[in-house]
Amino acid sequence: MEIKRDYKYYKEIFENTTAPFAYVDLDLLRKNITDISKRAEGKPIRVASKSVRCLSVIQKILNSGLKVAGVMSYCAQDTIYLSQNGVENLLLAYPVVDEFYIHQLALEIKKGKKIVLMVDLPEHVERINEVGKLAGVQIPICLDIDMTTRFPGIYFGVYRSSLKLIEEARKLYQKIKNCDYVELKGIMGYEAQIAGLADNDPINGLKNPVIRLLKSKSVKIVADRRTAIINMLGNEGAELEIINAGGTGSIETSIQEPLVTEVTAGSGFFNSKLFDYYHNFQHEPAAAFGLEVVRIPQPGVYTCYGGGFIASGPVGKNKQPSPYLPQQVKTIESEGFGEVQTPILSTYPFQIGDPVFFRHAKAGELCEHFDKVYLVENGEIVAQAPTFRGDRVLEILNFVKNNFQ
Ligand SMILES: Cc1ncc(COP(=O)(O)O)c(C=O)c1O
Repeated sequence: MEIKRDYKYYKEIFENTTAPFAYVDLDLLRKNITDISKRAEGKPIRVASKSVRCLSVIQKILNSGLKVAGVMSYCAQDTIYLSQNGVENLLLAYPVVDEFYIHQLALEIKKGKKIVLMVDLPEHVERINEVGKLAGVQIPICLDIDMTTRFPGIYFGVYRSSLKLIEEARKLYQKIKNCDYVELKGIMGYEAQIAGLADNDPINGLKNPVIRLLKSKSVKIVADRRTAIINMLGNEGAELEIINAGGTGSIETSIQEPLVTEVTAGSGFFNSKLFDYYHNFQHEPAAAFGLEVVRIPQPGVYTCYGGGFIASGPVGKNKQPSPYLPQQVKTIESEGFGEVQTPILSTYPFQIGDPVFFRHAKAGELCEHFDKVYLVENGEIVAQAPTFRGDRVLEILNFVKNNFQ
């Protein structure tokens, strides 16, 4: 019998749990993995660790049977932590320019770990090459290609890579060939304006059809640019193992490019709130957090202990957490999510101590607010798993214990 995931279901599960708490519903996570796998139609998925930020959940995704290309990491610290915890084949998707951290990564690579660093400027290549020379190891690197599309008066995309033209990529590749301690392994192009931009969000109103139109026009431009760069690099003698594209929101279009070897997905596993609003797919709310009602300032108004949880990016209403369960809950416009307390309006007759469930707007950021997540399966808590943040805290505690006690 299908479980009804209503307020009663989660309230009973967390009856004896101290709030605030975060959880991952493993049954829904499995459903999302299956659906992402179907959407990818056999193209391998690179799991975006920054959109999960919990090692145990990442391992569950990697061991789920999903066809996986590896993991995409966010910073040097996360990459080393993941590598030292047995996660293989890491693509560090953002440039690291600090020599100390490049050196730490080089030492990990020297142990035989497959870690690929990201570059888009000659300075990135030079720094990595210098450190590679010092450490005595050749460091695998990947070119980040700008996938922005431009329409009259619209910069449709994100400001990240400087590599926009074929000539720029050719020049950088020439430089890489002249550096003995770096080796080009692949290219990455993140079409953020397709993958990360909701096109069915009620907050956008009449902009939704325009966004969809610009997205569909961008798909071809992005594919043509990627293909031209791959062909140019091939003609110059590059052997590309990795051709990485997209994100959760662009799986359908990124997989259409035959030369793409893998598509990134992260947010779709938890399916944070912003990913509810894409016209071509729907995943399940596998992660959420609970706050506790501690005050009743007037009938129908309840104040929860805990606040913040605002998502990154341009500040807007859609960056606040969304009330999830019970259904009859609204945040209060004039207060939103408070610094330490969050008032809500509700017709549900909450008692002091009752939980209220919310969803974060972004997936991985949820885990930055908690040291652990509760793993829920079939109506009960089956385990607790440290988040990246939790493991960082443990590391500091161990350091203090080992050095100062
Ligand atoms: C380089 C890169 N690839 C892919 C993604 C997509 O990740 P997600 O599936 O979590 O949207 C992101 C997200 O920011 C990214 O920065």
